[in-house]
Amino acid sequence: MKPNKWIETVPVYEPGKPIEEVARELGFDDIAEIIKVASNENELGPSPKAMKAMAVSAKEMHRYPDGGCFYLKDKLAGQLGVQPQNLLFGNGSNELIEFLGHVYLGPGTNLVMSECAFVVYRLIAMLFNAKIVAAPMQKFTHDLDAMLAAVTPETRMVIICNPNNPTGTAVTPAKIKAFLKKLPVHVLAVFDEAYFEFMPDAAKPDMIKEIQKGRENVIVLRTFSKAYGLAGLRIGYAVGHEKLIGLLNRVRQPFNVNSMALAAAFAALDDDKHLEKTRKTVFQGLELFARELPKIGNGLGMVPSVANFFLVKTGNGRKVFGELQKRKVIVRPMDGYGLPEWIRITVGTPAQNRAVLAALKEIL
Ligand SMILES: Cc1ncc(COP(=O)(O)O)c(C=O)c1O
Repeated sequence: MKPNKWIETVPVYEPGKPIEEVARELGFDDIAEIIKVASNENELGPSPKAMKAMAVSAKEMHRYPDGGCFYLKDKLAGQLGVQPQNLLFGNGSNELIEFLGHVYLGPGTNLVMSECAFVVYRLIAMLFNAKIVAAPMQKFTHDLDAMLAAVTPETRMVIICNPNNPTGTAVTPAKIKAFLKKLPVHVLAVFDEAYFEFMPDAAKPDMIKEIQKGRENVIVLRTFSKAYGLAGLRIGYAVGHEKLIGLLNRVRQPFNVNSMALAAAFAALDDDKHLEKTRKTVFQGLELFARELPKIGNGLGMVPSVANFFLVKTGNGRKVFGELQKRKVIVRPMDGYGLPEWIRITVGTPAQNRAVLAALKEIL
Protein backbone atom coordinates (compact mmCIF):
# COMPACT_ATOMS: atom_id res chain seq x y z
CA MET A 1 0.00 0.00 0.00
CA LYS A 2 1.36 3.36 -0.97
CA PRO A 3 -0.12 6.40 0.78
CA ASN A 4 0.18 9.89 -0.65
CA LYS A 5 3.67 10.70 0.58
CA TRP A 6 2.92 14.11 2.08
CA ILE A 7 0.14 12.76 4.33
CA GLU A 8 2.78 11.37 6.69
CA THR A 9 4.02 14.94 7.28
CA VAL A 10 0.60 16.26 8.34
CA PRO A 11 0.57 16.57 12.15
CA VAL A 12 -2.28 14.85 13.95
CA TYR A 13 -4.50 17.43 15.64
CA GLU A 14 -4.03 17.02 19.39
CA PRO A 15 -7.39 17.47 21.07
CA GLY A 16 -7.52 18.53 24.72
CA LYS A 17 -8.46 15.84 27.23
CA PRO A 18 -12.14 15.48 28.11
CA ILE A 19 -12.94 17.54 31.17
CA GLU A 20 -13.99 14.36 33.06
CA GLU A 21 -10.54 12.87 32.48
CA VAL A 22 -8.75 16.01 33.71
CA ALA A 23 -10.95 15.95 36.82
CA ARG A 24 -10.18 12.28 37.44
CA GLU A 25 -6.42 12.76 37.04
CA LEU A 26 -6.35 15.71 39.41
CA GLY A 27 -8.59 13.98 41.93
CA PHE A 28 -11.53 16.40 41.73
CA ASP A 29 -14.93 14.90 42.49
CA ASP A 30 -17.21 17.44 40.93
CA ILE A 31 -16.55 18.35 37.30
CA ALA A 32 -19.07 21.18 37.59
CA GLU A 33 -16.41 23.03 39.59
CA ILE A 34 -13.94 22.94 36.70
CA ILE A 35 -13.73 26.11 34.68
CA LYS A 36 -12.84 25.29 31.08
CA VAL A 37 -11.95 28.50 29.32
CA ALA A 38 -9.67 26.96 26.72
CA SER A 39 -11.65 26.67 23.47
CA ASN A 40 -13.47 29.98 23.01
CA GLU A 41 -16.84 28.37 23.64
CA ASN A 42 -19.91 30.23 24.86
CA GLU A 43 -20.00 29.76 28.63
CA LEU A 44 -23.69 30.77 28.73
CA GLY A 45 -24.47 27.57 26.83
CA PRO A 46 -26.67 27.12 23.76
CA SER A 47 -29.61 29.38 23.04
CA PRO A 48 -32.70 28.10 24.93
CA LYS A 49 -34.66 28.32 21.67
CA ALA A 50 -32.07 26.09 19.99
CA MET A 51 -32.28 23.55 22.80
CA LYS A 52 -36.06 23.32 22.39
CA ALA A 53 -35.65 22.83 18.65
CA MET A 54 -33.08 20.08 19.24
CA ALA A 55 -35.48 18.21 21.52
CA VAL A 56 -38.16 18.32 18.82
CA SER A 57 -35.74 17.22 16.09
CA ALA A 58 -34.58 14.23 18.22
CA LYS A 59 -37.81 12.47 17.24
CA GLU A 60 -36.79 12.66 13.55
CA MET A 61 -33.29 11.22 13.91
CA HIS A 62 -34.15 8.12 11.88
CA ARG A 63 -34.34 10.41 8.80
CA TYR A 64 -31.44 11.75 6.76
CA PRO A 65 -31.03 15.49 7.03
CA ASP A 66 -32.12 17.99 4.40
CA GLY A 67 -28.93 17.86 2.32
CA GLY A 68 -29.59 21.25 0.73
CA CYS A 69 -30.22 22.96 4.11
CA PHE A 70 -33.22 24.58 2.39
CA TYR A 71 -34.96 26.37 5.26
CA LEU A 72 -31.85 27.47 7.10
CA LYS A 73 -30.32 28.77 3.88
CA ASP A 74 -33.46 30.69 3.09
CA LYS A 75 -33.69 32.26 6.53
CA LEU A 76 -30.00 33.16 6.79
CA ALA A 77 -29.96 34.58 3.26
CA GLY A 78 -32.84 36.86 4.29
CA GLN A 79 -31.03 37.99 7.42
CA LEU A 80 -27.74 38.66 5.60
CA GLY A 81 -29.29 40.24 2.52
CA VAL A 82 -27.88 37.69 0.05
CA GLN A 83 -29.40 34.97 -2.13
CA PRO A 84 -29.60 31.33 -0.94
CA GLN A 85 -27.16 30.42 -3.71
CA ASN A 86 -24.55 32.63 -2.01
CA LEU A 87 -24.53 30.30 1.02
CA LEU A 88 -23.04 26.92 1.85
CA PHE A 89 -23.15 25.11 5.19
CA GLY A 90 -20.36 22.99 6.59
CA ASN A 91 -19.82 20.55 9.43
CA GLY A 92 -18.37 23.43 11.39
CA SER A 93 -16.59 26.20 9.51
CA ASN A 94 -13.51 23.96 9.67
CA GLU A 95 -15.08 21.77 7.03
CA LEU A 96 -15.49 24.80 4.78
CA ILE A 97 -11.76 25.53 5.08
CA GLU A 98 -11.18 21.97 3.90
CA PHE A 99 -13.57 22.49 0.95
CA LEU A 100 -11.47 25.50 -0.02
CA GLY A 101 -8.40 23.26 0.09
CA HIS A 102 -10.09 20.71 -2.20
CA VAL A 103 -11.01 23.36 -4.72
CA TYR A 104 -7.91 25.57 -4.70
CA LEU A 105 -4.87 23.93 -3.14
CA GLY A 106 -2.45 21.33 -4.44
CA PRO A 107 1.23 20.76 -5.17
CA GLY A 108 2.86 23.86 -6.62
CA THR A 109 0.33 26.25 -5.05
CA ASN A 110 0.58 28.26 -1.86
CA LEU A 111 -1.65 29.75 0.81
CA VAL A 112 -0.77 33.05 2.49
CA MET A 113 -1.65 33.45 6.17
CA SER A 114 -0.28 35.35 9.16
CA GLU A 115 2.45 33.78 11.24
CA CYS A 116 0.23 33.55 14.31
CA ALA A 117 -3.24 32.64 13.05
CA PHE A 118 -5.67 29.74 13.42
CA VAL A 119 -3.71 26.49 13.16
CA VAL A 120 -6.24 24.70 10.94
CA TYR A 121 -5.13 26.78 7.91
CA ARG A 122 -1.69 25.18 8.16
CA LEU A 123 -3.14 21.72 8.56
CA ILE A 124 -5.35 22.12 5.50
CA ALA A 125 -2.49 23.45 3.36
CA MET A 126 -0.40 20.44 4.40
CA LEU A 127 -3.27 18.07 3.70
CA PHE A 128 -3.33 19.22 0.08
CA ASN A 129 0.46 19.40 -0.22
CA ALA A 130 0.41 23.17 -0.76
CA LYS A 131 3.04 25.55 0.54
CA ILE A 132 2.31 27.81 3.50
CA VAL A 133 3.59 31.37 3.27
CA ALA A 134 3.45 32.95 6.73
CA ALA A 135 3.47 36.77 6.70
CA PRO A 136 4.78 38.72 9.72
CA MET A 137 2.28 40.50 11.97
CA GLN A 138 2.33 43.90 13.60
CA LYS A 139 1.41 44.13 17.25
CA PHE A 140 -0.30 40.73 17.10
CA THR A 141 -2.47 42.00 14.22
CA HIS A 142 -2.58 40.86 10.59
CA ASP A 143 -0.35 43.10 8.50
CA LEU A 144 -2.28 43.23 5.24
CA ASP A 145 0.59 44.94 3.39
CA ALA A 146 2.96 42.15 4.43
CA MET A 147 0.36 39.61 3.31
CA LEU A 148 0.04 41.31 -0.07
CA ALA A 149 3.83 41.36 -0.42
CA ALA A 150 3.85 37.60 0.24
CA VAL A 151 1.51 36.86 -2.69
CA THR A 152 3.17 35.08 -5.63
CA PRO A 153 1.78 33.85 -8.97
CA GLU A 154 1.32 30.47 -7.22
CA THR A 155 -0.83 31.92 -4.42
CA ARG A 156 -4.39 30.59 -4.49
CA MET A 157 -5.70 32.20 -1.34
CA VAL A 158 -4.94 34.64 1.44
CA ILE A 159 -6.67 33.88 4.73
CA ILE A 160 -7.48 36.74 7.06
CA CYS A 161 -8.74 35.60 10.41
CA ASN A 162 -10.80 38.55 11.57
CA PRO A 163 -10.88 38.76 14.56
CA ASN A 164 -7.82 36.58 14.74
CA ASN A 165 -7.55 33.44 16.84
CA PRO A 166 -5.42 33.32 19.01
CA THR A 167 -4.59 37.04 19.28
CA GLY A 168 -8.12 38.51 19.43
CA THR A 169 -7.15 41.42 17.17
CA ALA A 170 -8.96 42.66 14.06
CA VAL A 171 -8.01 44.64 10.98
CA THR A 172 -9.91 47.84 10.31
CA PRO A 173 -12.48 48.15 7.51
CA ALA A 174 -10.33 50.89 5.91
CA LYS A 175 -7.29 48.59 5.77
CA ILE A 176 -9.39 45.82 4.25
CA LYS A 177 -10.71 48.18 1.60
CA ALA A 178 -7.18 49.21 0.61
CA PHE A 179 -6.08 45.55 0.64
CA LEU A 180 -8.88 44.41 -1.66
CA LYS A 181 -8.06 47.18 -4.11
CA LYS A 182 -4.52 45.84 -4.48
CA LEU A 183 -5.22 42.10 -4.27
CA PRO A 184 -4.46 40.37 -7.60
CA VAL A 185 -7.61 38.88 -9.13
CA HIS A 186 -6.11 35.37 -9.25
CA VAL A 187 -6.11 35.25 -5.43
CA LEU A 188 -9.11 34.41 -3.26
CA ALA A 189 -9.41 36.47 -0.05
CA VAL A 190 -10.87 34.29 2.70
CA PHE A 191 -12.22 36.20 5.68
CA ASP A 192 -12.62 33.81 8.59
CA GLU A 193 -15.13 35.62 10.79
CA ALA A 194 -15.70 32.90 13.39
CA TYR A 195 -15.78 35.61 16.10
CA PHE A 196 -17.56 38.31 14.08
CA GLU A 197 -20.55 38.58 16.43
CA PHE A 198 -18.32 39.60 19.35
CA MET A 199 -16.89 42.65 17.60
CA PRO A 200 -18.15 46.05 18.70
CA ASP A 201 -20.54 47.17 15.95
CA ALA A 202 -18.38 50.15 14.95
CA ALA A 203 -15.38 47.88 14.30
CA LYS A 204 -17.21 45.33 12.15
CA PRO A 205 -16.12 45.21 8.51
CA ASP A 206 -18.98 44.65 6.05
CA MET A 207 -17.55 41.89 3.92
CA ILE A 208 -21.02 40.67 2.95
CA LYS A 209 -21.40 43.92 0.99
CA GLU A 210 -18.54 42.79 -1.28
CA ILE A 211 -20.50 39.65 -2.08
CA GLN A 212 -23.71 41.61 -2.62
CA LYS A 213 -21.77 43.73 -5.12
CA GLY A 214 -20.88 40.53 -7.01
CA ARG A 215 -17.20 40.34 -6.12
CA GLU A 216 -15.86 36.92 -7.07
CA ASN A 217 -12.61 36.65 -5.12
CA VAL A 218 -13.91 37.15 -1.57
CA ILE A 219 -15.43 34.55 0.70
CA VAL A 220 -16.61 34.93 4.30
CA LEU A 221 -16.68 32.06 6.79
CA ARG A 222 -18.78 32.18 9.95
CA THR A 223 -19.92 29.69 12.53
CA PHE A 224 -22.66 28.78 15.00
CA SER A 225 -19.97 27.38 17.34
CA LYS A 226 -19.02 30.56 19.15
CA ALA A 227 -21.57 33.34 19.77
CA TYR A 228 -24.49 30.95 19.17
CA GLY A 229 -23.07 28.36 21.57
CA LEU A 230 -23.52 25.35 19.27
CA ALA A 231 -19.93 24.08 18.93
CA GLY A 232 -20.90 20.47 19.69
CA LEU A 233 -23.35 20.33 16.78
CA ARG A 234 -20.76 21.35 14.14
CA ILE A 235 -22.32 23.89 11.84
CA GLY A 236 -20.79 26.86 10.07
CA TYR A 237 -21.37 28.67 6.79
CA ALA A 238 -19.67 30.33 3.87
CA VAL A 239 -20.95 33.41 2.06
CA GLY A 240 -19.60 34.00 -1.42
CA HIS A 241 -20.26 34.51 -5.09
CA GLU A 242 -22.67 31.97 -6.58
CA LYS A 243 -19.91 30.54 -8.84
CA LEU A 244 -17.56 30.04 -5.93
CA ILE A 245 -20.24 28.46 -3.75
CA GLY A 246 -21.09 26.18 -6.68
CA LEU A 247 -17.49 24.92 -6.79
CA LEU A 248 -17.35 24.33 -3.04
CA ASN A 249 -20.66 22.48 -3.24
CA ARG A 250 -19.07 19.92 -5.57
CA VAL A 251 -16.66 18.69 -2.91
CA ARG A 252 -19.34 18.45 -0.20
CA GLN A 253 -20.71 15.10 0.98
CA PRO A 254 -24.49 14.88 0.47
CA PHE A 255 -25.37 15.01 4.20
CA ASN A 256 -22.48 16.93 5.71
CA VAL A 257 -24.66 18.88 8.17
CA ASN A 258 -26.86 16.93 10.58
CA SER A 259 -30.56 17.55 11.18
CA MET A 260 -30.19 18.55 14.81
CA ALA A 261 -27.64 21.18 13.86
CA LEU A 262 -29.98 22.50 11.16
CA ALA A 263 -32.90 22.74 13.59
CA ALA A 264 -30.80 24.36 16.32
CA ALA A 265 -29.16 26.90 14.03
CA PHE A 266 -32.55 27.82 12.55
CA ALA A 267 -33.94 28.50 16.04
CA ALA A 268 -30.77 30.24 17.24
CA LEU A 269 -31.07 32.80 14.44
CA ASP A 270 -34.31 33.95 16.11
CA ASP A 271 -32.81 34.19 19.56
CA ASP A 272 -31.60 37.79 19.66
CA LYS A 273 -31.97 37.82 23.41
CA HIS A 274 -29.40 35.06 23.90
CA LEU A 275 -27.03 36.58 21.37
CA GLU A 276 -27.21 39.99 23.04
CA LYS A 277 -26.74 38.49 26.50
CA THR A 278 -23.70 36.62 25.17
CA ARG A 279 -22.21 39.76 23.65
CA LYS A 280 -22.80 41.79 26.80
CA THR A 281 -21.27 39.09 29.01
CA VAL A 282 -18.16 39.05 26.81
CA PHE A 283 -17.83 42.86 26.63
CA GLN A 284 -18.14 43.14 30.42
CA GLY A 285 -15.74 40.23 30.95
CA LEU A 286 -13.10 41.81 28.72
CA GLU A 287 -13.46 45.08 30.64
CA LEU A 288 -13.04 43.25 33.95
CA PHE A 289 -9.84 41.50 32.79
CA ALA A 290 -8.45 44.73 31.31
CA ARG A 291 -9.01 46.41 34.67
CA GLU A 292 -7.79 43.60 36.94
CA LEU A 293 -4.91 41.91 35.10
CA PRO A 294 -2.55 44.91 35.41
CA LYS A 295 -2.98 44.66 39.19
CA ILE A 296 -1.62 41.08 39.32
CA GLY A 297 2.06 40.43 40.05
CA ASN A 298 4.13 43.02 38.24
CA GLY A 299 1.18 43.74 35.99
CA LEU A 300 0.08 41.24 33.39
CA GLY A 301 0.00 42.41 29.78
CA MET A 302 -3.14 41.63 27.85
CA VAL A 303 -3.55 42.01 24.10
CA PRO A 304 -6.69 44.15 23.57
CA SER A 305 -9.29 41.82 22.08
CA VAL A 306 -12.49 42.15 20.05
CA ALA A 307 -13.32 38.45 20.38
CA ASN A 308 -14.51 36.26 23.29
CA PHE A 309 -10.93 35.45 24.36
CA PHE A 310 -7.66 37.23 24.86
CA LEU A 311 -3.94 36.64 25.16
CA VAL A 312 -2.18 37.40 28.43
CA LYS A 313 1.55 37.38 29.08
CA THR A 314 2.22 35.41 32.22
CA GLY A 315 5.82 34.24 31.71
CA ASN A 316 6.21 30.47 31.12
CA GLY A 317 2.70 29.86 29.79
CA ARG A 318 2.93 26.08 29.99
CA LYS A 319 3.83 26.26 33.70
CA VAL A 320 1.02 28.72 34.43
CA PHE A 321 -1.36 26.45 32.51
CA GLY A 322 -0.36 23.56 34.81
CA GLU A 323 -0.74 25.66 37.95
CA LEU A 324 -4.14 26.95 36.85
CA GLN A 325 -5.25 23.41 36.11
CA LYS A 326 -4.45 22.41 39.70
CA ARG A 327 -6.83 25.21 40.69
CA LYS A 328 -9.57 23.80 38.43
CA VAL A 329 -9.09 26.35 35.66
CA ILE A 330 -8.26 25.14 32.14
CA VAL A 331 -6.77 27.68 29.73
CA ARG A 332 -4.78 27.27 26.51
CA PRO A 333 -0.98 27.55 26.62
CA MET A 334 0.38 29.28 23.53
CA ASP A 335 3.79 27.65 23.01
CA GLY A 336 2.33 25.75 20.05
CA TYR A 337 1.75 29.14 18.40
CA GLY A 338 5.34 30.27 19.12
CA LEU A 339 4.26 32.36 22.13
CA PRO A 340 5.70 30.43 25.10
CA GLU A 341 5.19 33.30 27.55
CA TRP A 342 1.50 33.67 26.81
CA ILE A 343 -1.74 31.91 27.60
CA ARG A 344 -5.14 32.34 25.93
CA ILE A 345 -8.19 32.70 28.13
CA THR A 346 -11.81 32.53 26.98
CA VAL A 347 -14.11 35.06 28.63
CA GLY A 348 -16.59 33.18 30.81
CA THR A 349 -19.48 34.06 33.07
CA PRO A 350 -18.82 36.82 35.64
CA ALA A 351 -18.30 34.17 38.36
CA GLN A 352 -15.89 32.18 36.18
CA ASN A 353 -13.94 35.33 35.31
CA ARG A 354 -13.55 36.22 38.98
CA ALA A 355 -12.37 32.68 39.74
CA VAL A 356 -9.82 32.83 36.89
CA LEU A 357 -8.50 36.14 38.23
CA ALA A 358 -8.29 34.77 41.78
CA ALA A 359 -6.36 31.70 40.56
CA LEU A 360 -3.95 33.89 38.57
CA LYS A 361 -3.41 36.13 41.60
CA GLU A 362 -2.58 33.10 43.70
CA ILE A 363 -0.01 31.84 41.20
CA LEU A 364 1.59 35.09 40.12
C1 LIG B 1 -10.69 31.34 13.68
C2 LIG B 1 -11.48 30.10 13.72
N1 LIG B 1 -12.04 29.67 12.58
C3 LIG B 1 -12.77 28.56 12.56
C4 LIG B 1 -12.97 27.82 13.70
C5 LIG B 1 -13.72 26.55 13.59
O1 LIG B 1 -14.98 26.66 14.06
P1 LIG B 1 -16.07 25.55 13.80
O2 LIG B 1 -16.46 25.06 15.14
O3 LIG B 1 -17.17 26.26 13.10
O4 LIG B 1 -15.46 24.48 12.95
C6 LIG B 1 -12.43 28.23 14.92
C7 LIG B 1 -12.62 27.44 16.13
O5 LIG B 1 -11.94 27.52 17.10
C8 LIG B 1 -11.67 29.40 14.91
O6 LIG B 1 -11.08 29.85 16.02
